[in-house]
Amino acid sequence: MNDRAIGPQAQETIPATENIRTLRAALNTLGDGFVEAIDDSTLKAIGERQAEETGGRIHGEAIEVSIFEAPGQTRVGRFGWKDQHSSLLSFIADAYLNEMGITNRLRPKDVTTVLKTTKDPEDQPDDIGLADIDHFAQFIRGTMVPPRDTTLAATEAALQGQQLFGRIGCSTCHVQSITTAPAGTGPRKP
Ligand code: HEC
Repeated sequence: MNDRAIGPQAQETIPATENIRTLRAALNTLGDGFVEAIDDSTLKAIGERQAEETGGRIHGEAIEVSIFEAPGQTRVGRFGWKDQHSSLLSFIADAYLNEMGITNRLRPKDVTTVLKTTKDPEDQPDDIGLADIDHFAQFIRGTMVPPRDTTLAATEAALQGQQLFGRIGCSTCHVQSITTAPAGTGPRKP
């Protein structure tokens, strides 16, 4: 909701009649380069395995989504609330537009032109030819997965929790480990 827009013409408010609310946690993006580097077949295999393990009660559905920077190509979705993106650059270009209102070469049109004073796309390449979305993708791709707290993980409570996590089926979806695709086989094209 644009309830803090810079001018009243662009402000939105939630009517009191809309009283069904839920909380959402914003997931962090550290280590997401590893998620980007997972081969489609690996994700599909997890879905198949889930169906076998749970007698069909859980069966992850892989959706093919388009890649903004590679028009005409699709890949299994893995980023965004509904897995609607399969590459970090697409995900970031979408977030620049929809979360921050910054148009960019992959998402060049604003969702509203009310109070607009700038020219599109707002995200322009710098002196080394990279736009902000490119730097942001590089940043995320360069981050490690936050390390496990080994001291905490060794406590009795944590060990019990870990067992419970496996026993009641959380690990059907939250799999313990995934192997990324071999280097050079990703979706990124020059
Ligand atoms: C059917 C698949 C599935 C099962 C089973 C499942 N989860 Fe999840 N879980 C998800 C998905 C998908 C998300 C990400 C939701 C999102 O991004 O909106 C998630 C998110 C979470 C998160 C938030 C992670 C974060 O980074 O903030 C926690 C914590 C979590 N699950 C715990 C559990 C626990 C505990 C169990 C077992 C009781 C469980 N989950 C079982 C699919 C599952």
